[in-house]
Amino acid sequence: MTSSRIPPDDPIARLAELDARALEAGGAQRIARQHEAGKLTARERVELLLDPGSFVEMDRFVVHRCADFGMGENRILGDGVVTGHGTVDGRKVFVFAQDFTVFGGSLSGAYAQKITKIMNLAMRVGVPVIGLNDSGGARIQEGVESLAGYADIFQANVLASGVVPQISAIMGPCAGGAVYSPALTDFIFMVEKSSYMFITGPDVIKTVTHEDVTKEELGGARTHNEKSGVAHFACPTDADCLAQVRELLSFLPANNHEDPPIGECTDPPDREAPALDTLVPIDAMKPYDIAGVIEHVVDDGYFFEVQQHYAKNILIGFARLGGRPVGVVANQPMVLAGCLDIDASVKAARFVRFCDAFNLPLVTFVDVPGFLPGTSQEYGGIIKHGAKLLYAYAEATVPKVTVITRKAYGGAYDVMASKHLRGDLNYAYPSAEIAVMGPDGAVNIVYRDEIAKADDPLAAKDRFVAEYRAKFANPYKAAGLGFVDEVIYPRLTRPRLIDALGLLANKRLENPPKKHDNLPL
Ligand code: HXC
Repeated sequence: MTSSRIPPDDPIARLAELDARALEAGGAQRIARQHEAGKLTARERVELLLDPGSFVEMDRFVVHRCADFGMGENRILGDGVVTGHGTVDGRKVFVFAQDFTVFGGSLSGAYAQKITKIMNLAMRVGVPVIGLNDSGGARIQEGVESLAGYADIFQANVLASGVVPQISAIMGPCAGGAVYSPALTDFIFMVEKSSYMFITGPDVIKTVTHEDVTKEELGGARTHNEKSGVAHFACPTDADCLAQVRELLSFLPANNHEDPPIGECTDPPDREAPALDTLVPIDAMKPYDIAGVIEHVVDDGYFFEVQQHYAKNILIGFARLGGRPVGVVANQPMVLAGCLDIDASVKAARFVRFCDAFNLPLVTFVDVPGFLPGTSQEYGGIIKHGAKLLYAYAEATVPKVTVITRKAYGGAYDVMASKHLRGDLNYAYPSAEIAVMGPDGAVNIVYRDEIAKADDPLAAKDRFVAEYRAKFANPYKAAGLGFVDEVIYPRLTRPRLIDALGLLANKRLENPPKKHDNLPL
């Protein structure tokens, strides 16, 4: 790091020279190649992510320690990752951005130390960590030193989990074991067409299984947002991705000891939504879009949906009620009639646990006919996966407010933030149907003989269905037992929920002390 151009008595000029050299990164040609690929450079990304001028870079002069394979002569200041801190909407965050123009963003021991340094600092001061990933993976020349570096990052990810929010943006390659650091974080954003994640690439797959698959098909943004559920957001460009990360942060506290930031609310807290009185069809077989209910209720109709392309039979996401950020979970009657299946259970369980870890109240809208029947679900382990959602709701100690809009049948009634899983305030619409199962299935079991023996079996079945509906297909039995706190006029959902959240703002509830739990995996 010495330069003959610097007079020995001018330390300021020497620093300026070194700074300028660090900014050159992998050089103009590689930067141009990055731009041609439709990607921004690491520093451009950091600038877009953070408030203008707020970035403070750390470890700008760190270089790798490898002398093999000609690397001794090939050192670039910063060594392929830009790390530091800055602000998003005035709130502190730590960030690392992998620089593909420097050794393909590949990870060395020194580079890993830069990342774990900011992660450890972030944990110490209670500030979120955002990782911008664009890397060829383990630096081949460093061998096990690079693998050790990854493991150090994984370890830090695990210790930071539940302490500070961790957000990953995949903005280029992310392959091999390198995928596990993002996988350990809370949310993964992917940029369409320029990012991919996989454990083994198309060439290895071709050799081992003889399958032909492109990088995009195997691990592109669509694949991980629609099929695998690994990612939470798909964004068209780098700039959009970084804007979405900022948006997500606006709902989150800086750490597990803080409450989420309360925003200004211009939408009246007592606003009624008359449309809700007719939005849920009385005919229990008729689908409707639960997103419409959410939008009528939350501040300014704004719902920041998470994993919107995956397991669409359940919606999860963030919204505000009276300015207070909340996590929303809602069965979606438009898809699979809102049944809970394996994917929906896992999707919602992880979200519920995130909200619980970071003090976000849970608002749950229930319209669920039960768990999805079928051999593929049973063989796939719906028992253990469904249990995850049950577990997540049962262990959650944040305020839990539930609205049953229509069906709440069977085990799914229990699971979806019921009173029995320490739901704090549980409401039902007059259209709610709370029962062990739907009328058709129930009468076929209970009145099988009577229906078979009847002169007119169809008429007999209709009679029994009507009787069953009158008894069970309403919220009043549950309300009579205190399992529903109030049957509400749908138009009043927003004022009720805002009141409830205010009431629960100082909720105190702790689970028994333990080393850790044993969530069914
Ligand atoms: C060292 C690397 C590198 C790596 C890329 N480069 N990957 N250097 N170690 N892993 C360098 C290249 O030599 C090149 O240097 C520059 O980065 C850009 O790479 P290109 O190949 O020219 O870019 P491109 O054509 O866009 O292809 C990108 C790529 C490809 C698909 C990522 O580089 C690639 O396949 N790299 C190897 C990926 C890999 O197998 N990594 C190990 C995965 S396993 P110059 O000087 O020419 O610019 C792993 C284990 C983690 O990571 C384990 C954790 C437990």
